[in-house]
Amino acid sequence: LINLSLLLLKILMWNRKHLLDIDAFSRDDIENLIGLAGRLEPFSGIDKSKKFKPLGLCRGQIMTLWFEPGKENSTRTFGSFPAAMMRLGGSCKVFDETTSSMMKGESLEDTTRILSGHSDVIVDRHRDAGHVYTVASVSSVPVINAGNGSAQHPTQTLLDLYTMVKKFGRIEGLKVAVVGDLKFGRTVHSLVKGLEKFGVHATGICPQGLEMPGEFRTSGYEERIIDMNDTGQALSELKPDVVYATRIQAERFSGNSEKYNYVINKKVLSMLPKNAAIMHPLPRISELSREIDSDERSVYFH
Ligand code: NCD
Repeated sequence: LINLSLLLLKILMWNRKHLLDIDAFSRDDIENLIGLAGRLEPFSGIDKSKKFKPLGLCRGQIMTLWFEPGKENSTRTFGSFPAAMMRLGGSCKVFDETTSSMMKGESLEDTTRILSGHSDVIVDRHRDAGHVYTVASVSSVPVINAGNGSAQHPTQTLLDLYTMVKKFGRIEGLKVAVVGDLKFGRTVHSLVKGLEKFGVHATGICPQGLEMPGEFRTSGYEERIIDMNDTGQALSELKPDVVYATRIQAERFSGNSEKYNYVINKKVLSMLPKNAAIMHPLPRISELSREIDSDERSVYFH
């Protein structure tokens, strides 16, 4: 309990109000958050074999979920934010632009002023990468980026780093391969930047046309442009600890996306180290074969 209080105190003394991108976090910040997450996990209700103990850390607080309707569909993020808030004793409401006064012409700024007036935190996901920054510039309460277009997804990165610590006990020294759509996949953008804070430089494996944009390449980042049918071969040469696969973000570009399809199946897995971790932010479409779900290296549902 004393450790938990100390950690909470550190987080409360954290001088940043918003959570907009992974760039704003130091390695220390991330380690503190991972430590706190570990201590809060028993209160998350995820372990169904244990009786859930509610924790009143957010009692009386209201979270507003601002997810752009129709354009930025979501299952995990839209579900896990309110679940976490409610597990912590707070409550949530959904703001839907299409039924709001924005349809009468109310500006984004005025809308934010009003929403922040009657909530304690705003969680924002929008196709326009700048939306969350505008909201944060006007909001009187903290704003959390839950995915801004094809730019970043910082809370997914915090979760991914937490998953790595749980599996390997460390992040430093891990060999990480990011695979698939490195151009439009926001989760890999923030992950590569987050890993850099621990001295880890990822290797990208992608088809021509879906390369990592320059702004997300860290100094030691390397990329292998391959025919995605050779994904297994490329991974067997690399022997990574972590394979972080991503979905081809078909909705983010026009034209044929099927030519980029790839699959990680049992055959690919047989070429990987025994203690590797297969990660994916989900949703998976066809890039993770169902036949690998039961392999103990597959941690994407964890
Ligand atoms: C991702 C997202 O929305 O960026 N999912 C998530 O939030 N965990 C990944 C994706 O859509 O491919």
